[in-house]
Amino acid sequence: MTVCVVGQGGREHAMARLFARSADVVVTPGNPGMPGELFGHKITVDPASPEELGADLTVIGPEAPLVGGLADRLRARGLPVVGPGAAAAALEGSKAFMKQVLAEAGVPTARYGVFDDLAAARAFLAELPGPFVVKTDGLAAGKGVLVTPDREEAEADAAAKLSGRAFGAAGHRVVIEAGLDGIECSIHVLCDGPTVVPMAAARDFKRALDGDRGANTGGMGGYSPPPEVDDALVSRVIDEAVEPTLAALGRRGIEYRGVLYAGIMVTADGPAVIEFNVRFGDPEAQVVLPRLADDPFELFLATATGALRAPPAFAPAFALCVVAAAAGYPEAPVVGERIDGLGPDGQLADPIDGVTVLHAGTTKDPDGAFRVAGGRVLGFGALAPSLGEARDLAYRAAGSVRWPGMHLRRDIGPPARPATVPG
Ligand code: AMP
Ligand code: GLY
Repeated sequence: MTVCVVGQGGREHAMARLFARSADVVVTPGNPGMPGELFGHKITVDPASPEELGADLTVIGPEAPLVGGLADRLRARGLPVVGPGAAAAALEGSKAFMKQVLAEAGVPTARYGVFDDLAAARAFLAELPGPFVVKTDGLAAGKGVLVTPDREEAEADAAAKLSGRAFGAAGHRVVIEAGLDGIECSIHVLCDGPTVVPMAAARDFKRALDGDRGANTGGMGGYSPPPEVDDALVSRVIDEAVEPTLAALGRRGIEYRGVLYAGIMVTADGPAVIEFNVRFGDPEAQVVLPRLADDPFELFLATATGALRAPPAFAPAFALCVVAAAAGYPEAPVVGERIDGLGPDGQLADPIDGVTVLHAGTTKDPDGAFRVAGGRVLGFGALAPSLGEARDLAYRAAGSVRWPGMHLRRDIGPPARPATVPG
């Protein structure tokens, strides 16, 4: 049996290691930190297309191939695939489409407007009390969002996006939103068409710098489970946000089969949807998947084939991941630096029990040394009986690896004072 994982980042590395529990794994295109043998199964990387590979199960990691219709093409060949078709993936491909579907479905979300004209965008910003949120309509790898209390900064950002200077065509339309206040969390579910089951919840750290300062990134770290997200909150998100959204898609004749990620703000009035993503979060996958207690092949095959039954079980352990990024990330990552502290297999040269190095943006020299090849370079993932232990392990691991300009957040983990969920 072979599972094909599509993608090349830290999320896909975590998926490859998960599926190696049940089957051989081929990652396309993958990265050089992935290949090896785990649980008696092989993980290989292959530049061939997922159509050519024709695996027993294909799981698509990133949004771009989903938005581009890869899942439709695989299904047309009769291959089992986890990932929505292009029509459903538009939920992530166009924030304007997502907001429209949420409005139709009556799902709580921030007040918004969609603009391709600066004067109208300015007029809408003038009506909002702030904080202000300016997003590119199209895909921008998590970096196309500005949240600011400053109306002038929001106007300048909308102008830069609309002109195409900041994000090219993805920014020719912007979505402007009222800023929501509350506690943010990432809730993933698996959908097989009619049936929805929850995965473990996670928290992501989206800003580049400690204390949630700096630019929005793809994600600088995360952990699972966030102690303040209980089963009742997850059920409420499924009942009030996920099911109505799937029903609204259904009324358009669109079926959803894959992973759906609800970015939730738990506000004083209850959970509101910040966004839907049509795939696992990165780095959320790195902290959710290692905790899965069920057979991954069976669970994801059931998702692909419409056979989901009971919610999957998760180990009562805590996972935490610290992402180390290249100098200049997210604006202009500096690539090419040689990484010290890794062995030829890409794991720690001096291994630490409970720690996995997840490769995101690396290349490998012929002599076996790894080099920086992207913005987010490595994730240090740890699994332990408590969040504190997981955090200590992840930071100990991160401290044993270095390259010039390596930067990471020092505050990945629960807040110093326990957060309470209002309501
Ligand atoms: P998105 O790509 O839409 O998830 O936005 C990236 C990040 O910006 C989110 O994870 C939030 O931290 C923040 N954000 C987006 N929209 C809002 C909003 N309406 N209110 C507050 N924060 C937001
Ligand atoms: N970590 C946020 C995302 O994957 O969109």
